[in-house]
Amino acid sequence: MSALLRVSLLLQVVSCQVRVNTEDYAWYNSSKILKCQADTGEEIKQITWEWQGGGAKMTFLTYRNDTGSILQKSYENRVKFKGDGNKDGSIEILNVALADEGIFKCVFTTYPSGTIEGEIQLHVLVLPIVTQELKQDVTTPCYNLVAECLASSAKPSAEILWIIYGINYTSEEKTFPNSNGTLNTQSQLYMTSSPGLYGLLIQCLVFQPKIPVEYQKNITVTKNLTNIQFPPQMVEIEVLKNDKEALQLLCKSDGNPRPKYNWKRGTNLDLVNSVA
Ligand SMILES: *[C@@H]1O[C@H](CO)[C@@H](O)[C@H](O)[C@H]1NC(C)=O
Ligand SMILES: *[C@@H]1O[C@H](CO)[C@@H](O)[C@H](O)[C@H]1NC(C)=O
Ligand SMILES: *[C@@H]1O[C@H](CO)[C@@H](O)[C@H](O)[C@H]1NC(C)=O
Ligand SMILES: *[C@@H]1O[C@H](CO)[C@@H](O)[C@H](O)[C@H]1NC(C)=O
Ligand SMILES: *[C@@H]1O[C@H](CO)[C@@H](O)[C@H](O)[C@H]1NC(C)=O
Ligand SMILES: *[C@@H]1O[C@H](CO)[C@@H](O)[C@H](O)[C@H]1NC(C)=O
Repeated sequence: MSALLRVSLLLQVVSCQVRVNTEDYAWYNSSKILKCQADTGEEIKQITWEWQGGGAKMTFLTYRNDTGSILQKSYENRVKFKGDGNKDGSIEILNVALADEGIFKCVFTTYPSGTIEGEIQLHVLVLPIVTQELKQDVTTPCYNLVAECLASSAKPSAEILWIIYGINYTSEEKTFPNSNGTLNTQSQLYMTSSPGLYGLLIQCLVFQPKIPVEYQKNITVTKNLTNIQFPPQMVEIEVLKNDKEALQLLCKSDGNPRPKYNWKRGTNLDLVNSVA
């Protein structure tokens, strides 16, 4: 009993000798420093870094004072040793790839005790590409598909919120995966078409709720609802000029698409002018 307790205490002390963030996050295609610090008074002979994921495992970096850092070929131009070769064994990944997701292990070989190590679980994040599209199917007076917002290749999955003031709407969200582990999310916006919607600004807000708050980046795309079709709601005639020489009248109307104007005399005799 007491022997077991002593063993487990000893293990805990050993694992505390290397300071790392046991869980860390990096944006795809950005640079990321993986910090690793040894807490030991012993001499450090060598520092190595290992990666493991998807059943594979490899040592990709070895640092010694006499050789400097030696990198495995596929990491050669992507990873830099940032430490001092003593207690700091940090590295920098210059452009994080999807395949970097996994466990990074930094191992210090100390003299005379042997190796001490730290493990970092790295999550690779991908910011989605967001597009918003207006839909033309908006003519009948009931709930219609008005717009669609697509957040493509996000990791972890994205969620879409609509920001629309003072008007009722519903939306439907669907998520489907890509083969590389990223996900596409689509949200379709439905509203009751009415002339009042024309020219309204709608925003789709995309965020990734599963990412820790300090890494979150929101994306918003704003569109003007210029796709709402409605017939002219009013017609106004204004007299601009009325003297001996000329009579000028202005006819105003609304409607989308823009209405055509036909001028007719009251007697309905002849069409004088017609412009689009
Ligand atoms: C990665 O980032 C660099 C600039 O930092 C950019 O030029 C390149 O297009 C990006 N590549 C991808 C695949 O996103
Ligand atoms: C490198 O040399 C420094 C200074 O002599 C020493 O403190 C350190 O432990 C050495 N590190 C390695 C990895 O050999
Ligand atoms: C939105 O819908 C609710 C419930 O159907 C209704 O009470 C409310 O008046 C509607 N608001 C607008 C702005 O249409
Ligand atoms: C993942 O796959 C999707 C679909 O093939 C592609 O559009 C996207 O660029 C890929 N993402 C990365 C980070 O490679
Ligand atoms: C939206 O589009 C309409 C028609 O083009 C335009 O009159 C209106 O000013 C736009 N609204 C905003 C806020 O840009
Ligand atoms: C992103 O949007 C979500 C949802 O509205 C919000 O909770 C969060 O605070 C926003 N984060 C940032 C960084 O703006």
